[in-house]
Amino acid sequence: MKRPNALPVLLGAGVGVLVLVGAALGAGLYDVSATAKPSRLEEGFASFVVDRAVARRAPKGPNPVSITPEVLARGLAEYRGHCLVCHGAPGVRPTGISKGLNPPAPDLAQPDAQEGTDGELFQVISAGVRMTGMPAFSLSESPETLWKLVAFVRHLPKLSDEERAALAGPPGVRPEEPAAAR
Ligand code: HEC
Repeated sequence: MKRPNALPVLLGAGVGVLVLVGAALGAGLYDVSATAKPSRLEEGFASFVVDRAVARRAPKGPNPVSITPEVLARGLAEYRGHCLVCHGAPGVRPTGISKGLNPPAPDLAQPDAQEGTDGELFQVISAGVRMTGMPAFSLSESPETLWKLVAFVRHLPKLSDEERAALAGPPGVRPEEPAAAR
């Protein structure tokens, strides 16, 4: 007896699923509001794709900028001006913007964010992550400044009391920077 050919059935089922998914999306059933929790599938898929894409493009090797107090002071000033509003920092009250981001801007002092290489941190800060709110800073900052930011992100888990105070201070007041760091 001739065995039935499974291929047309599988193809038909595949097309059927695609049509159903298309119809559901077309009907606006998938909720893209920032207040809606993403499905496990969306979250897992997105973080897998982002991690792999960043790892592939990240420069190799450690931070080319040596870590000095001037570099950290400049990194702090940049972080305060460009990153704090979304990512917050230890001892700083979260902003309304950071509460409303979805996906959230991770707490960069936590081990999850610290486990990547220096190059991976540089890549995310430089190129951003499309459709998440994470901007590309390569369009506005020099590579040297971005590496100083990488140095400061690495320093976030061990901030001194002065640094915490400088980050938490009233808006518009820039922390003291040594002249050499400008
Ligand atoms: C407008 C909000 C916003 C600003 C401003 C912002 N980020 Fe982000 N950032 C995000 C979001 C959202 C993500 C999560 C992206 C994702 O889910 O893949 C992110 C991710 C990151 C990551 C990856 C963390 C991880 O665990 O993988 C790093 C590193 C980072 N940002 C650093 C910075 C630095 C440094 C600055 C300032 C120069 C900055 N970000 C400014 C929103 C922001």
